[in-house]
Amino acid sequence: MKGTRDLLPAETGLWQRVEDEARRVFAAYNFREIRTPILEPTFLFARSVGADTDIVTKEMYTFEDRDNESLTLRPEATASVVRAYIEHGMFNQGGIQKLYYLGPMFRRERPQKGRYRQFYQIGAEVLGSDHPTIDAEFLEMLVLLLGRVGLTEYNLLLNSVGCPKCRAEYLKVLRQELERVKEKMCGDCQRRAGTNPLRVLDCKVEADQSIIEKLPRILEHLCPECRQHFDCVTGELQQRGIPYQITPRLVRGLDYYTRTTFEMTSNVLGAQNAFLGGGRYDGLAEILGGPPTPGFGVAIGEDRLLLAVQQAAGLSAGDALDVFVAWMGDAAHEPATQLLRALRREGLRVESNYEPAKLKKSLGVANRLGARFAVIIGEGELASGRFQLKDMTAGQQEEVEPARVAAVVKEKLQKG
Ligand code: HAM
Repeated sequence: MKGTRDLLPAETGLWQRVEDEARRVFAAYNFREIRTPILEPTFLFARSVGADTDIVTKEMYTFEDRDNESLTLRPEATASVVRAYIEHGMFNQGGIQKLYYLGPMFRRERPQKGRYRQFYQIGAEVLGSDHPTIDAEFLEMLVLLLGRVGLTEYNLLLNSVGCPKCRAEYLKVLRQELERVKEKMCGDCQRRAGTNPLRVLDCKVEADQSIIEKLPRILEHLCPECRQHFDCVTGELQQRGIPYQITPRLVRGLDYYTRTTFEMTSNVLGAQNAFLGGGRYDGLAEILGGPPTPGFGVAIGEDRLLLAVQQAAGLSAGDALDVFVAWMGDAAHEPATQLLRALRREGLRVESNYEPAKLKKSLGVANRLGARFAVIIGEGELASGRFQLKDMTAGQQEEVEPARVAAVVKEKLQKG
């Protein structure tokens, strides 16, 4: 199907390693996993992401269930996480909730490199505090994760979209200005100038760009509280040595944001260069019928992150075969079976011939599978009680007692 793809074993090894690193980093910052349904009632996204956003108006996979309820394949998961937080009374546990999730999202966009209709996100959300340290520490966590997966070249774009109070003031100014210039803009912008003027700032139409650049900037209209919050976030980023670029147009394509918004982009990705995005959404829980609960979060576009990691030759799949056990003759079957079990119990990745096979053939298979070592068990080895351990890259061979094979292999693998 257009915009979807199969992830084959040649790729999934790297996906798993990136996900493992994410889980480890999230755990270090005390995040715990949440799993929410892929199907949700349509109104959840209309209410939270916003009825006039591209996602809700053009991109959702929505259908009527047999009982006429309108359902949608989730286009993002922040709304679902906040819904679950409210539904399960997680606010009653007091303090801050730190949650993360991984999984597929669905948006009916025009497919291109790094843009799919089923794509994957690794996301994290903090609910229950509006302190600017949350924002800065969260960004620090992302920097750590990117380092762990071998990505060092990227830009952190940062902005504040204010609170409902100062945004209303800003929108007045923006509307006035748009009235003056909208005639020269695309049809979408002309409509949005009336319905949702902030969305004009996301417009990608080339001819509109020079007009948008000259529009009033929200950062210049923040109320004192939002200004102070933003200054604290940037101050803490500086303290932590995290570089950022203030990007006044970064209002993000979803309506729930307040105050801090951010994206990270990579120059190796082409047109779809944002590989993660997020920000603060202090009003969302109330919009969804919950108690006032500030929130902050990110979603990493895993497909794009993987492209960037591959380009940067960062983390690699790590699913190469450690050992191939090549046995010859029926008498070698049982000792081979015992050795296989022992090696596998040690956590090594091991393969073998399932039927008696000639040595040359087995070593050919071992090579094709990329095995680092081969253990050879034939008549001579059974007679001497010592197996041959062959280093498949160096070509050297040595005799090792069966009980010591696992330890010797592990030691050699560690040495590299
Ligand atoms: P978003 O910016 O819509 O934010 O998506 C986050 C990331 O998902 C994007 O930066 C991009 O890397 C990836 N992405 C989006 N659409 C596609 C697509 N069609 N194909 C491939 N990758 C895509 C959110 O989803 C918010 N829920 C983030 C957030 C969490 N805000 C607060 N908490």
